[in-house]
Amino acid sequence: MKTIIFYRSAYKGNTLKIAQKMAEALGAGLVSIDTNPEVDVSEYDLIGFGSAINFAAHDVQLLRFAEKQNLKDKDVFIFSTRCRPYLGGYHKALRKIIRDRGGVIAGEFSCRGYDRTGPWVLMDGYNKARPDARDVFKAGLFAEKLRQELHPLADIYREPVEGHIEGVPARRKGSDVVAGDKVVFLDTSTCVGCGKCMDVCPMHVFGRRNGHVLPVYDRDCILCRICADRCPTSSILVHESLLNSLRIGLCESGLRKSYNR
Ligand SMILES: Cc1cc2nc3c(=O)[nH]c(=O)nc-3n(C[C@H](O)[C@H](O)[C@H](O)COP(=O)(O)O)c2cc1C
Repeated sequence: MKTIIFYRSAYKGNTLKIAQKMAEALGAGLVSIDTNPEVDVSEYDLIGFGSAINFAAHDVQLLRFAEKQNLKDKDVFIFSTRCRPYLGGYHKALRKIIRDRGGVIAGEFSCRGYDRTGPWVLMDGYNKARPDARDVFKAGLFAEKLRQELHPLADIYREPVEGHIEGVPARRKGSDVVAGDKVVFLDTSTCVGCGKCMDVCPMHVFGRRNGHVLPVYDRDCILCRICADRCPTSSILVHESLLNSLRIGLCESGLRKSYNR
């Protein structure tokens, strides 16, 4: 999922901390709007906009920047840092711009940020050391959730198995055929067979069978997601679930054998 995040963090760098974590979790490009970027957003599947809350709305420069973008049918997320303990209607202005420009709001995130303006100078600032590690952690979780939910193969495990390719269960996603059993799913219709996933997977989950690259040992997957991150056509979904996480915890000795394979 090609993602770009536009941000402005002009006061204390508070929003930048959040933006950096989200960019890391989403494998996204991170662009300060202060660099006057000329980016064609039509190339992106997901677009993020974030800044401080200044006078009850996002930074005015960010609002103006968002107003100039063509967001038709794009998934967009919004984030902010703010002084006040609760968000209220602070996202309303940016939300409206995004919808007016044709975008679809995929998620919103906000947390508190250090502020030493106005009355707060009397106590040397409010929200000291925020965003802190917990705020950054929550920003990461938010981004991970977006990443999972918006993946084109997100719900594929719910589809019925319609057949097998070289022994690997196959399901349909529209006209695409997706191979995978419980953990690793590969869209065989968009896969170009480059074999990068085979090269990078530490657990040797993938194999080439009769010309197809397939997730042949998907129960050995440890959810590292290196394959999905490196796939040039975004054809792989690693399904993160409680069951899959627990299975890895319980099968360590068996997994070691797969690692050494
Ligand atoms: C000019 C200005 C106006 C602000 N207005 C608000 C506000 O209306 N509500 C609020 O909760 N915080 C307000 N704040 C606090 C900032 O939103 C907060 O410190 C934010 O984390 C700064 O982020 P940044 O370092 O990324 O710019 C304001 C700060 C500044 C400098």
